[in-house]
Amino acid sequence: MLKIWLIASVLASSVYGAPSNKRSPKTLSLPFDVVKNNTSSSTTNASKRDKTVPIYPDMLGLQYLVTVQVGSNKQTIQVGIDTGSSDFWVPGDNVECNGMYSCTGGGTFNPKTSTTFHNLSKVIDAAYLDGHNAIGWYGKDDYWFEDGTKLPQFQFGVMDKDGRPSGLLGLGYNFTEATTDHSTYPNFPFALKDAGIVDKAAYSLYLNSAQAEDGNLLFGGIDKAKYSGEMKVLDVVHYRWLGVELGSITTARGKNFTVNTPVYLDSGTTYMTMTPDILKQVYENEGLDENGTADCDKINKAGSTTFNFGELEIKVPNSELYSGEETCKINIDESSVSNMFGDIFLRSAYVAYNLDTNKIGLAQVKYTDDSSVVDFWF
Ligand SMILES: *[C@@H]1O[C@H](CO)[C@@H](O)[C@H](O)[C@H]1NC(C)=O
Ligand SMILES: *[C@@H]1O[C@H](CO)[C@@H](O)[C@H](O)[C@H]1NC(C)=O
Ligand SMILES: *[C@@H]1O[C@H](CO)[C@@H](O)[C@H](O)[C@H]1NC(C)=O
Ligand SMILES: *[C@@H]1O[C@H](CO)[C@@H](O)[C@H](O)[C@H]1NC(C)=O
Ligand SMILES: *[C@@H]1O[C@H](CO)[C@@H](O)[C@H](O)[C@H]1NC(C)=O
Ligand SMILES: *[C@@H]1O[C@H](CO)[C@@H](O)[C@H](O)[C@H]1NC(C)=O
Ligand SMILES: *[C@@H]1O[C@H](CO)[C@@H](O)[C@H](O)[C@H]1NC(C)=O
Repeated sequence: MLKIWLIASVLASSVYGAPSNKRSPKTLSLPFDVVKNNTSSSTTNASKRDKTVPIYPDMLGLQYLVTVQVGSNKQTIQVGIDTGSSDFWVPGDNVECNGMYSCTGGGTFNPKTSTTFHNLSKVIDAAYLDGHNAIGWYGKDDYWFEDGTKLPQFQFGVMDKDGRPSGLLGLGYNFTEATTDHSTYPNFPFALKDAGIVDKAAYSLYLNSAQAEDGNLLFGGIDKAKYSGEMKVLDVVHYRWLGVELGSITTARGKNFTVNTPVYLDSGTTYMTMTPDILKQVYENEGLDENGTADCDKINKAGSTTFNFGELEIKVPNSELYSGEETCKINIDESSVSNMFGDIFLRSAYVAYNLDTNKIGLAQVKYTDDSSVVDFWF
C-alpha cells in the first residue's frame, strides 16, 4: 500500500551485476504466514470502487503476516509486510477499528503492561492511497523475532484509530514515514542496521507461490536458491516509493509494446494497478474489452505475460493474472496515480531491495525450500 506522497521521479539507467562476494553475511530471516482469509468473499465491489485508488479488498485477499513479539512481556502480534510504506505500527489495546472490518485479527499491543515501553508522545498519522488510514502515537520498545534476535528500543506506532485489518511492517524509505513534522527516524531496515543485526539496510522478499503457506523476508542477504537465471540490478528510479523502470510488456499472444515508465514493487497491494494509458494498451494487445474482460476461451491461461526490465524478463502466469471461469477478468485495476506491481506480480519475482545504495535486484522466482544465502553485491 503506497503511502500518499508527492511524486518526484528521477530517471536513471540500469546497471547489471553478478554476485562476486560469497562470504556469509549477517542476516535476519523473518518467515511469514501466507494467510488466505476469505479471498473469494473479498472480490471487489465494483460499484463502490473508486477508480483512482487501489481496491479495498486488497487487504482481505492473501495477507503476508510476520509474527513479532513486543515489549517486556513479549506480546505476540502479526503485521502485514508493506514495501510501499515506511512505518512499523500495531493496533493498541484500546484501538477503535474504523474500517469495514475488524482491525484486531493480528493481535493488539498493550503498552501499560510492558515495563520497557516509552511513549514518545509524537503523533503517527499514516494515510494510505486506498483511504484506509491509521492514527496513533509513536513509542519505543524492545522487539523479539522467531530466531531469538532482539531489536532493542525500536520506534513504532501504537494506533488508537485503525481502518486496516492488521498492523504493518513498512519497509520503504524513511522520507515517507508518517511523522507529522516531516522528521525521519530509523525505520525497520535502518534500525536493524543501527543495532548491528545486519550490515546493510537491505532485504530480500520471497512471497512464495499463491498456494504456499509461508514465505520469507531476509534482511542483509540474498537467497540465490530462490531464483532462476541471473538477478539483474536496477536503479531505484523513484526515491519516495520503491520504483524501477519497466521497459515493455509482451502478452501471451506475443504482442510486445513499449511502456518506459516507473512501476512500484509494493507488497502491500494484492493485485496490480496501471495508469489508463498503459492499461488501455494491455487491453488492446490482449484482446480484452473496455472492462478488462474476455471469454476465458480466448485467454491463453497456460501462457504468461512478460514484463521486460531492460534485459530481464519476469513472466507472470496468466492463470494468476486472470480470474473467472467463463468470463475472464485481468487482475489489474486502473489508477490515475501509479503503476503498482503488487503481490500478483511479486509472487513471480525474487526481489532484493537495497535502501543504502538505491538499487533493486530482480529475478524470476524459483519456488523451493533450498537456500543459499549470499551478501548483497550491489
Ligand atoms: C470467511 O468468511 C465466512 C463468512 O463471511 C466465515 O464464515 C468464515 O469463517 C471465514 N473464514 C476465515 C478463514 O476467516
Ligand atoms: C458491495 O456493496 C454493497 C452496497 O454497499 C454491499 O451491500 C455489499 O455487502 C458489498 N459487497 C462486498 C463483497 O463487499
Ligand atoms: C484469519 O482467520 C482466522 C480464522 O477465522 C482468524 O483466527 C484470524 O484472526 C484471521 N486473521 C486475520 C489477520 O484476520
Ligand atoms: C502517549 O502520549 C500521548 C500524549 O502525551 C497520549 O495521548 C497517549 O495516550 C499516550 N499513549 C500511550 C500508549 O501511553
Ligand atoms: C534515512 O535514510 C537514508 C537513506 O535513504 C539514510 O542515509 C539515513 O541515515 C536515514 N535516516 C535515519 C534517521 O535513519
Ligand atoms: C519487445 O520485447 C523485448 C524483450 O523481450 C524488448 O527488448 C523489446 O524492446 C520489445 N519491443 C518493443 C517494441 O517494445
Ligand atoms: C463494461 O461494464 C459496464 C458497466 O458494468 C457495462 O455497462 C458495459 O457494457 C461493459 N462493456 C462491455 C464491452 O462489456
